[in-house]
Amino acid sequence: MKVINSVTEMQRTADELRAYGRKIGFVPTMGYLHDGHLSLVDEARKRADVVVMSVFVNPTQFAPTEDLTTYPRDIGRDLKLAEDRGVDIVFNPADKEMYPDEEFAFVEVERVSRLLEGEFRPTHFRGVASVVAKLFNIVKPHFAVFGQKDAQQAFVVRKMVRDLNFDVSIVVAPIVREEDGLAMSSRNVYLSETDRREATVLYRSLILARGLVREGTTDLVAVRSEMLKLISSGSKGKIDYIGFVNPETFERIEEIGKLDKALALLAVRFGKTRLIDNMYLEASRREI
Ligand code: PAJ
Repeated sequence: MKVINSVTEMQRTADELRAYGRKIGFVPTMGYLHDGHLSLVDEARKRADVVVMSVFVNPTQFAPTEDLTTYPRDIGRDLKLAEDRGVDIVFNPADKEMYPDEEFAFVEVERVSRLLEGEFRPTHFRGVASVVAKLFNIVKPHFAVFGQKDAQQAFVVRKMVRDLNFDVSIVVAPIVREEDGLAMSSRNVYLSETDRREATVLYRSLILARGLVREGTTDLVAVRSEMLKLISSGSKGKIDYIGFVNPETFERIEEIGKLDKALALLAVRFGKTRLIDNMYLEASRREI
């Protein structure tokens, strides 16, 4: 496995691979790898000749008050896990390599960037879209794999690709969970033992929502209040939001309409650790 730190070297390598007709699959990450990240590598391996993974904790997607400085890092461990899983190239640039100037251009995906996560992290998706655009111009992939874990991020990236005509296909892979249902996340290491146990309420509340909708509930305000009850009675977690969107447009909805489905998303804080999760809700087909 090759490790590349320089932008120009990564671009030259990508040009060579493309000249030889190799298909480049790309998995962008912020490192501290877990099975969720590695499942994206498996997905990329299925259809790529060369799998490139980036490991870069992107400062522009963290607000000054957020956990940039304490974000978990262990590049030695990441390189080993990546190599064992079959990654061919790891792109691991320094901050200065990615952001040499003090001012720079940003990519802004309107509307969706302000919803849900965006209400609580107003500059987050601008940072994500911009760094992903930069990474696409550096790694020059044919396709890139993102996780459903960050459903809103995947939507923002897809919208950016469409609006700005990036010649990159976006693949979204399912959420990988711990045995008790907690969605894997680099931030889970910060949970205390009690919070770790209680953190399963995110998943349990989504399962509850899925069940209610399957059984015929169409009023999502009612579903939300059941989820809220479960979370506040079963944990000390502080809810940032519980929201429902049309998965095709990311418009907020309050009712299961003609579409017969919705995406439920939530964010809950345990102490300083903020967890997010989501699940598709589908009404069982009504008899006509
Ligand atoms: P990071 O949080 O490291 O996640 C990298 C990728 O792994 C994302 O596409 C994310 O959705 C996916 N992922 C994380 N946990 C997962 C899980 N439990 N199951 C499946 N996939 C999972 O997301 C980012 O980094 C950054 O915002 C990035 C896109 C790299 C831009 O900086």
